[in-house]
Amino acid sequence: MKFLHIENTNPKQTVSKICILTCIILLIFTVTTALLKINRYKLPSTAFGDLKEPESLPSASVKKCDIFSGEWVPNPEAPYYTNTTCWAIHEHQNCMKHGRPDSEFMKWRWKPNECELPMFNPFQFLEIMRGKSMAFVGDSIARNHMQSMICLLSRVERPIDVSHMNDFSFKRWKYSSYNFTMANYWTPHLVRAKKMDSNSALFNVYIDELDETWTTQIKDFDHVIINGGQWFLGPIVFYEKQKVVGCQYCDLANMTHSNLYYGYRKVFRTTFRSILSLENFKGTTFLRTFSPSHFENGLWNKGGKCVRTKPFRSNETKLEGYDLELHKIRLEEFKVAMKEGRKKGLKLMLLDTTQAMLLRPDGHPNKYGYWPNENMTLYNDCVHWCLPGPIDTWSDFLLQMLKMENVRSISTNMLHR
Ligand SMILES: *[C@@H]1O[C@H](CO)[C@@H](O)[C@H](O)[C@H]1NC(C)=O
Ligand SMILES: *[C@@H]1O[C@H](CO)[C@@H](O)[C@H](O)[C@H]1NC(C)=O
Ligand SMILES: *[C@@H]1O[C@H](CO)[C@@H](O)[C@H](O)[C@H]1NC(C)=O
Ligand SMILES: *[C@@H]1O[C@H](CO)[C@@H](O)[C@H](O)[C@H]1NC(C)=O
Ligand SMILES: *[C@@H]1O[C@H](CO)[C@@H](O)[C@H](O)[C@H]1NC(C)=O
Repeated sequence: MKFLHIENTNPKQTVSKICILTCIILLIFTVTTALLKINRYKLPSTAFGDLKEPESLPSASVKKCDIFSGEWVPNPEAPYYTNTTCWAIHEHQNCMKHGRPDSEFMKWRWKPNECELPMFNPFQFLEIMRGKSMAFVGDSIARNHMQSMICLLSRVERPIDVSHMNDFSFKRWKYSSYNFTMANYWTPHLVRAKKMDSNSALFNVYIDELDETWTTQIKDFDHVIINGGQWFLGPIVFYEKQKVVGCQYCDLANMTHSNLYYGYRKVFRTTFRSILSLENFKGTTFLRTFSPSHFENGLWNKGGKCVRTKPFRSNETKLEGYDLELHKIRLEEFKVAMKEGRKKGLKLMLLDTTQAMLLRPDGHPNKYGYWPNENMTLYNDCVHWCLPGPIDTWSDFLLQMLKMENVRSISTNMLHR
């Protein structure tokens, strides 16, 4: 397969240029593959594009494609790895090992409405990443994503473990022949947070304070992918300036449920600010949006499960309730940060996985993340993603974004629904 015009531009070079080039997208279908030829269209330091700008574009010559709106379509060729070809699958995501009977969930690919999303090409990815580094910052789904990527790259190279710590929440891997380093930082709330006490599920979350376990570590990374979501649906007390400002399912006699949205917004504001104010940081920041869970017939701790074996079509479900509100807040804060970043010559991009993953109730381990154990109550996992599985598509998105730095990911259509 041949890929064209894969430039390795320094983002700084594009900053000074003001809308110059034109973009011609030709889709050439070969027998098996749609091959995307791109003459890149450059916008001033933007990844995501100014949402207000599209009308002013020379529309005849620019074919935009929102890769994040689409449908899942059958893909008989998938999966591209198995639990025998990839060693990196975390035990709890190794669904086939734990007896998952169906395998159709692995056999889908994401088809954007207006174009093709090329399948992840590990050689090409590593070539683009030569001499670079990437950090996955967030909850255990960030780790799930990194492990998926290691599996997709396993056809090319097995990385060496160069971790500073012996803790799977803080791993560091190096692809020696490409001098590419990949690391994950576990920070479920993104900001400083502490369990109220060791027996409690309740977290004190300090919405205006940094979590230094990652903020002190990422300045040398070229790409930083952040995410956050799931943990904000658990029991939390929010603190600002050391004072209680909100509570979410906190179950304390003296507090009522309040200010989740305020707290959540502040968390993202603090997170983006801390990234944008890092000294000497020159990397690109990706916000990987919420990955919805799919518990049905009960909450996660009340017997909820996810037994479907097929994706939804986009007209069969939609984001609602908390998930929708939190999604909007994230996007709003992202846009503010993107503008701030632009002033400083820092690029922020939106890896908007929410819609695609919303449609995949079939991709979670459910009860196949463990062996049954009669001595313990094991909850069904409808949050993480089986490997191989739909989360592999995140790497398709990521590579495509790296190739087309001007992807206009307009997930705001979701906001207007
Ligand atoms: C891989 O999955 C198969 C079932 O498809 C299972 O029998 C096997 O134990 C698994 N192997 C590993 C190494 O996880
Ligand atoms: C490897 O990449 C790092 C940056 O990630 C760079 O500082 C270093 O010089 C590179 N090493 C080689 C041998 O190219
Ligand atoms: C609420 O009660 C807990 C202990 O039950 C206490 O630690 C906390 O400070 C109280 N919060 C407020 C706002 O009074
Ligand atoms: C969704 O769209 C498909 C194809 O366009 C159609 O066959 C199906 O009936 C629709 N389902 C719903 C729930 O509207
Ligand atoms: C459950 O507990 C019993 C008694 O302690 C033990 O013999 C058995 O092996 C345990 N079963 C599992 C699956 O751990």
